[in-house]
Amino acid sequence: MGITAIRGFNDILPSEVGKWQFVEKTAREVFEGFGFAEIRIPILERTELFSRGIGEATDIVEKEMYTFTDKGGGSLTLRPEATASMARAYLEHQLYAFDPVAKLYCFGPMFRYERPQKGRYRQFYQIDAEVFGVGNPVVDAEVILMLIHFLRRVGLEKLELQINSLGCRDCRPRYREGLKAFLTEKSFQLCEDCQRRLQTNPLRIFDCKVQTCQEAIADAPKVSDFLCGECDTHFDKVKECLSMANLDYVLNPRMVRGLDYYTRTAFEVVSYDLGSQNAVTGGGRYDNLFQEIGGLDIPGIGFAIGMERLISLLPKDKEFIRYPDLFIAAPGKGTHGEAYRLANQLHLEGIHTEFDYEGKSLKSQMRRADKLKARYVLILGEEEMKKGRAVLRNMADKSQEELPIDNLTGILKNKIGKD
Ligand code: HAM
Repeated sequence: MGITAIRGFNDILPSEVGKWQFVEKTAREVFEGFGFAEIRIPILERTELFSRGIGEATDIVEKEMYTFTDKGGGSLTLRPEATASMARAYLEHQLYAFDPVAKLYCFGPMFRYERPQKGRYRQFYQIDAEVFGVGNPVVDAEVILMLIHFLRRVGLEKLELQINSLGCRDCRPRYREGLKAFLTEKSFQLCEDCQRRLQTNPLRIFDCKVQTCQEAIADAPKVSDFLCGECDTHFDKVKECLSMANLDYVLNPRMVRGLDYYTRTAFEVVSYDLGSQNAVTGGGRYDNLFQEIGGLDIPGIGFAIGMERLISLLPKDKEFIRYPDLFIAAPGKGTHGEAYRLANQLHLEGIHTEFDYEGKSLKSQMRRADKLKARYVLILGEEEMKKGRAVLRNMADKSQEELPIDNLTGILKNKIGKD
């Protein structure tokens, strides 16, 4: 074999693309119905946007970023996520001057140097939605509601919404210290990475998969016991709004999320069909991110859905491929020109039409029509054409009818468009 794709970087082949288009189309419909507008942002950003935004002591910034020095000597990074970039764009273009509240979404590839396995890739796609400029807990519930509505619209079941509150600048440091004190007593149980995390970012220890670390944190203090009055009230209101919208949720006090920008509400939607990579979506509130990246004091909340994981959960019985509406079989030399002319006219009418380019036998053309799963076949036989007629075959019920070749485009448009 010649040159192959890089490990962890996938091709999305035409047979799969229908699913992607369906998911993207549904996301646009749902999100725009909730008042969100699309934004398109670059794939490359200055490295400091992510190191300051996501946090120096996170796995993403410490070891997963694709960072390089460009010819001008600047340090650039392939974006590992979209939230920080969207916040940068909002600040840079002063979108707040028009309206402080911005509801934005974007689609696109993200890059993380992780160990590839099923559901975890080095280039993966996210659908990302963010609300900037609202600190009110009602919007936390609204964003979650939109997410769940979208996931249901694409046909996902067996999902669980998990929520937690991660506190704010006032209460989180207290929790951090409480957790550090608790884990220091058990530090002999921690793996080498977590020994280091204990000093730099003890909350990350919750995400460690090593058995002894999991045991060490089993009885660790919960962040909910450290929340300040305001964070408590905020979280209560989120839960109340979710219940008002009849949304079931599970409280997961161990969910800390892998990015440091979160404050207060954090959430994940997990699927029990996904094996070990079971988070389809992660999100939460980040009321300090804008300040971290050098901007104003603007609150934000949002989520990102992993496209590959979502697509692996789509209903198996749904068809996502657009098959040809019509195949024109023109077995005789004299009929090729007519097939070409007709196919061109039908394409202009939006009717997906295929025909044979090679002058093969009728049998072989019918086999190809069958393989392509064409809904109808129009047979342009030389004899029939002399009589001014063509035969239309419905491939589902195998019925056939003769049609006049005058105004075939109009007749076919009516017939095929109607089904
Ligand atoms: P995240 O939890 O890092 O959050 O990623 C969100 C989703 O992206 C995950 O739930 C997963 O489905 C998918 N994902 C992450 N890494 C990979 C990977 N290596 N391969 C395949 N899929 C992956 C964020 O990125 C935040 N920016 C979410 C957010 C938006 N928070 C607030 N707003």
